[in-house]
Amino acid sequence: MLHYEESGRGEPLMLLHAFPLSSEGFWPLLEKPVEGVRVIAPDFRGFGKSAATAGPQTMESMADDVLELMAALEVTRAYVGGVSMGGYVAMALLRQDPGRVKGLLLCNTQMGEDDEAGKVKREATAKDLEANGMKPLVEAMLPKFLTEKAPASVVERVKKLMLSTNPTAAAGATRGMALRLSSKDILARFAGPAMIVAGAQDSITGPEKAKAMADLVSGSTLEVIEGAAHLANLEQPEAFRPAVARLVGGSTR
Ligand code: MLT
Repeated sequence: MLHYEESGRGEPLMLLHAFPLSSEGFWPLLEKPVEGVRVIAPDFRGFGKSAATAGPQTMESMADDVLELMAALEVTRAYVGGVSMGGYVAMALLRQDPGRVKGLLLCNTQMGEDDEAGKVKREATAKDLEANGMKPLVEAMLPKFLTEKAPASVVERVKKLMLSTNPTAAAGATRGMALRLSSKDILARFAGPAMIVAGAQDSITGPEKAKAMADLVSGSTLEVIEGAAHLANLEQPEAFRPAVARLVGGSTR
């Protein structure tokens, strides 16, 4: 079973981490829960404290692991949310078992699949991770994850977290992301509440991609967070908290 961190009491929210982070990437919410919300944040295989397995990790296999964790915790239905890759897994979970999803929280993510050029780039990234470890990837990605104005303590913690990831697991997840399906069809069918969050300065999955998702999901709310790039939940945690509260119906006190 996946390792997970948990905090708060109330409506369960399965919160799925970005690549190449872990549940620790939700530290502001884990340290200071939103009233009425029980955050359950797993580490995907090979990330954080979960054991690694060989080969590509598809979004479907990650979703299966999350469903298994929900069953073990006797959580039959939950709000399911994720940041970037975590969002891809949230959408894969919705496809696999829509009855388990009470509402969706999609942050700094996108519904489309990789194009051919994107898939080629992913394979090059996976090979680079296997040959050279995390450092080159971290140096390339970190400036896109946080704006230049992000507090140094946040930049350092994110960097340390990324560098601590197992490069073989990161390569497996990279290959898995290249295999992911478009989620447009399932989002168009989703009738529950959804909160779509974007970072105004996100160059990977920016506001336009978030708006396209919000336009497709009936009854969704779009929240564009200023002063944030790809990890809006970490760069502007006090703007992220009300979005969670609004979706789940708690308060930010
Ligand atoms: C992430 O933050 O999880 C990644 O940027 C997702 C991706 O590479 O598509």
